Amino acid sequence: MRGGTQAVPWLDELSFEPGPPWHAMGTRALPEGRWLVPDEERMADLARKQALLGSAGDVVACSRPGAEEAAAEAAQLVAAAVGEPLVPHREPLEAAALLVQEDLCVLSRGDEGWVLVAGVVCFPSIWRLPDKLGLHVTAVHGPVPAYEAELAARVDRFLDRLRPERPTWRRNWLVHDSPELHLPDPPPPRPDPSAPDDLWLRSERQVLRRLPATGAILFTIRTQQAPLAVLGHRPDLAAAMAGAIRSWDDELVSYRSAAGWREPVLSWLDEVAGADRPGWCA
Ligand code: HEM
Repeated sequence: MRGGTQAVPWLDELSFEPGPPWHAMGTRALPEGRWLVPDEERMADLARKQALLGSAGDVVACSRPGAEEAAAEAAQLVAAAVGEPLVPHREPLEAAALLVQEDLCVLSRGDEGWVLVAGVVCFPSIWRLPDKLGLHVTAVHGPVPAYEAELAARVDRFLDRLRPERPTWRRNWLVHDSPELHLPDPPPPRPDPSAPDDLWLRSERQVLRRLPATGAILFTIRTQQAPLAVLGHRPDLAAAMAGAIRSWDDELVSYRSAAGWREPVLSWLDEVAGADRPGWCA
């Protein structure tokens, strides 16, 4: 859903906990048949991916030597789930990425832990795949404030214990002042964004699955977004989101590029949340 402000099914899956701690694992068992989630934008998104693979191939798709087998297994799993074949004469992971709206990352276990070895990431939120390729998962998260203290050991343990028969999902959320899906770099900040009209609520539905044959891990990222105005109908969520954003320290505000939109968003969320408060008399 890109344009309107009607109900968004994933709103109730978002977690708006104030910090610290700033981050949570938030991992849950994936219900059967709920891995890949196509919607009415599928054809448009696939066309966009096709164009990006042509014009920005080096930025959106890459792979380390030795990752071929794991990438091919990941690609076959995607194709089997969609029920469509991989086009021939193309890197299997690219062919798989052209069947689904999800971005695809493959991790392999090395001596030091889990390493990002291949990916096709067309819709990143301010990161570039080539910068992360070949890095341990902790280094992939290098710019994330407090990741090392709060999450690194838990993520490493979680990845080690992931079983093929028990895929897992989690979600994050972000606010962006651009609806652009392909966002490797921060867009130039709007000088004075007006909330909610110039802002978008963006969320990544992430699924982690262990691949049975190679033992690698496939990490799929489905980026979904809606105008921030969808929260206008949800005073409960507006109050929770305001509480979370208010708790952020300067480092998080900067990491989440929130300096420009934080104040207008908070005033608007307070207004929406206030509409839900029962009246009282002194
Ligand atoms: C259970 C597993 C994982 C957890 C709990 C986790 C958690 C997080 C968190 C908290 C952030 C910061 C987002 C924010 O709050 O604004 C983040 C960012 C990110 N994560 Fe993960 N993550 C997990 C797995 C992965 C994996 C397997 C990859 C592999 C590609 C990955 C790639 C990234 C990237 C590229 C970013 C953006 C980093 C940047 O800003 O440069 N994550 N992750």
